[in-house]
Amino acid sequence: MARIDTHIRPSSETFARNFSAYAALREKLAQARDTALHGGGSEAQARQLAKGKLFARQRVGLLLDPGTPFFEIGQLAAHEVYDHPVPCAGIVTGIGVVAGHAVAVFANDATVKGGTYYPLTLRKHLRTQQIAREQGLPCVYLVDSGGVYLPLQEEIFPDEHHFGKIFRNIAEMSAMGLPQISAVMGSCTAGGAYIPAMSDETVIVRGNGSIFLGGPQLVRAATGVIVDAETLGGADVHTRESGVADHYAISEEHAISLVRDIVARRGKGRLSEPPQAPVPPRSDPAELPGIISANPREPIVAREVLARLLDDSRLVEYRARFGTTIICGTGHIGGYPVGVLINDGVLFSESAQKATNFIELCAQRNIPLLFLHNISGFMVGASYEAGGIAKHGAKMVNAASCVSVPKFSILIGGSYGAGNLAMCGRAIGPQLMAMWPNAKTSVVGGEQAATVLALIRAEQMAKEGRSFSPDEEEAFKRPIREAYERQGQALYVAARMWVDAIVDPVHTREWLTLSLALAAGAPSRETRFGVFRM
Ligand code: COA
Repeated sequence: MARIDTHIRPSSETFARNFSAYAALREKLAQARDTALHGGGSEAQARQLAKGKLFARQRVGLLLDPGTPFFEIGQLAAHEVYDHPVPCAGIVTGIGVVAGHAVAVFANDATVKGGTYYPLTLRKHLRTQQIAREQGLPCVYLVDSGGVYLPLQEEIFPDEHHFGKIFRNIAEMSAMGLPQISAVMGSCTAGGAYIPAMSDETVIVRGNGSIFLGGPQLVRAATGVIVDAETLGGADVHTRESGVADHYAISEEHAISLVRDIVARRGKGRLSEPPQAPVPPRSDPAELPGIISANPREPIVAREVLARLLDDSRLVEYRARFGTTIICGTGHIGGYPVGVLINDGVLFSESAQKATNFIELCAQRNIPLLFLHNISGFMVGASYEAGGIAKHGAKMVNAASCVSVPKFSILIGGSYGAGNLAMCGRAIGPQLMAMWPNAKTSVVGGEQAATVLALIRAEQMAKEGRSFSPDEEEAFKRPIREAYERQGQALYVAARMWVDAIVDPVHTREWLTLSLALAAGAPSRETRFGVFRM
């Protein structure tokens, strides 16, 4: 297995410049993370404490095995999306280890508008359920939620992938034998009541836990009867009379220990050991920020990245002399085998054909795939069109879509247009997808979008006998360029759940090791590709 050549690293001057540009990005991100981790603010937190309730992250901390990592999904979801803060989209989700089993965890944060579901809370919940389904993981729901955030119901309730999908997922995953476990630690109102009611096993906490289709206010409005929450749907009623819950917990800590017992005896989601001993890369991953060009127009040298991600910096390269703008090869990360595709220039027909063949080979050998996006797109021009670049690109999209081995995507630089799709972008269905803080994504670059739209406008104006002055053209282009620039940024993308996480380059190996460990235990499926146009 060849060691990756890293003689081409940037000069020490460039390296230092890159490093300091990256530090500024990291700082911006740290501030956003701080807001996300703080929950709904001090007043709401004081109310939570006054009720004797733990915070969502404390609950997750108690649930997980001590010292094990929490693989958080959508930590920055909803960051600066709504007209008021909704930190972490009001729910903490991720994959963690409970009693030695990998488990998907969902913890409503009642300090954020009563733990109600905004469109992005829902998106995050559904995304984490999808990960659980694909990885074959039990789900633990730590429920403390007022249900749908009523002012935005039209974006949460009526459609196929809206609120009801949570319950359909619970039913389908239960049918697949993936344990669905709820612990009710606060309110669980209206539609939300179906989370514990549909779970295989449900724990409810005395005093604070309540489950009802209509809360006390609604009962009073509808029937005139005044009834308190505990009498209407508390732990005693549900474990003694209704059978909506199974286990009576005297405290949140007790509830969590009951959940841990249930996970332990249900036996799904064991994490697999790596097939070979992990070996650190020979080039230090801590150097990665110095490899990332401070100027986004300058490409990131692909081999420098691989040398800092792969075990022992080793790669068995596939067709090294052909279609060289994409590097494909197999290696290991954290001791787990992986087939890597990383862009090293614009995609040509040959690069797309090579990548398609490589994906086929990994499917045959059951090797998980890692797509590292650093791509402006496919080559354009008459000779490339005549050479069938569209059909070659389509083959790569077909292969990336249909391959059934676990697949992961990380945006390490730009990721644009069809290049994003061919490299297994969000719509193509990677099991997990992350982005480095410097990375950007949009259908085309801002400058190209502004230029295309200005050309169309100029043609329309020409028909009316008018033309742009240079100032008018710039005034037309600027807002387009700025909108693309804003919408392509990592924080904007992560806030909308277009990726699962923003990962620091320096921690990417750990993120990937966990991803590959999860994948190693996931149910395998046979690959069938669609028709390849030759
Ligand atoms: N939609 C929108 N906002 C909601 C909400 C909902 N379903 N439920 C609660 N909120 C908001 C409250 O207006 C309040 O906002 P504020 O902090 O800006 O004042 C915040 O969430 C906290 O609610 P509050 O009632 O003060 O907290 P609480 O801890 O005493 O009670 C609930 C929390 C969830 C039990 C209670 O608010 C409730 O019963 N809500 C209605 C639930 C419901 O009927 N949902 C039906 C939809 S499926």
